[in-house]
Amino acid sequence: MSEPTSAYKGPERVFSGVQPTGNLHLGNYLGAIRKFVNLQHEMECIFCVVDMHAITMWQDPKELRAQTLEIAAAYVAAGIDPEKAIIFNQSAVSGHAELAWIFNCVARMGWLNRMTQFKDKAGKDKERASVGLFVYPNLMAADILLYKATHVPVGDDQKQHLELTRDIAVKFNNEFDVENFFPQPEPLIKGAGARVMSLRDGAAKMSKSDPSDLSRINLTDDPEAIAKKIKKARTDPEPLPETSDELKARPEAENLVNIYAALAGTASEDVLTAYAGQGFGVFKPALADLAVEVLSPITAEMRRLQGDPAFLEKIMTKGSERAERIATPILRDVKRVVGFL
Ligand code: AMP
Ligand code: TRP
Repeated sequence: MSEPTSAYKGPERVFSGVQPTGNLHLGNYLGAIRKFVNLQHEMECIFCVVDMHAITMWQDPKELRAQTLEIAAAYVAAGIDPEKAIIFNQSAVSGHAELAWIFNCVARMGWLNRMTQFKDKAGKDKERASVGLFVYPNLMAADILLYKATHVPVGDDQKQHLELTRDIAVKFNNEFDVENFFPQPEPLIKGAGARVMSLRDGAAKMSKSDPSDLSRINLTDDPEAIAKKIKKARTDPEPLPETSDELKARPEAENLVNIYAALAGTASEDVLTAYAGQGFGVFKPALADLAVEVLSPITAEMRRLQGDPAFLEKIMTKGSERAERIATPILRDVKRVVGFL
């Protein structure tokens, strides 16, 4: 386990979040949720459903509620034990919003202007983006630092936001002259599933908002849908090579090999050792079988849990109480440091 770089002395703690914005996909699973499952045995873990982040883009209230429960179901179905790790929704602990306001006053316009995800999500007409979408990285920093989390498992697309979180922590500590008050949280990104690409375009990441459902494998897809999407995935006519270096100029092929490796828990090189010289006519069905084998039990358990919303709500209520207990003394200290009466 990598150590936070500062001389921070507090306990190790994991925080991460997933937005309840629909279409939970293989990238979310391999880049984030699967890592959560392993980490819960290593340190104290807090896994949030970030509903306040979701509303930075318009969400239908009824769907937001259903999707919040869906993420909770996915967490539990993937193997997170709610008795061990804390599972809750962000808006249930008001400290996230309170600390985010303070960080709005710590972070600089110039820092946020550099965030590439805002540029991607706001699209061409930035004047019409919500202000929340612009300051979203400050809320993310607040999520993490409200618990003084030291480790943050995320996919590669969140790297820049984590750097901003570290900058906010350092600036707060320096300006208020409280050395090592906030840790500089360590991103946990590495691994085969850190950047799962679209099945239709090897240059775009697999995403919840891609209009083409063929671009992603949803955690709610049945085995037929998974097999169909992998069969239709864009590739090239060449057989698989012997080394990963030879995949560099073939992003779609590289993506499928990486997905196989991530699902199998091996290195891409091992996948190539097994399949070098084979075409996609052989490789795709093998990948589809593996994807179904890994994902089907999770999908089935998700469906079962979604049939019992009262159970999921109970988990979240208990989780938010536990989260609040950690956050309350930290927020009290922050307010004192800032000079609030
Ligand atoms: P989001 O869908 O934005 O709520 O993302 C939830 C988590 O999944 C974050 O840790 C992301 O970095 C991760 N994630 C999202 N898309 C991908 C992807 N295509 N590959 C790997 N990780 C991803
Ligand atoms: N911004 C993250 C995403 O879009 C979700 C998120 C919100 C998060 N707060 C977080 C992730 C805190 C890690 C830690 O995927």
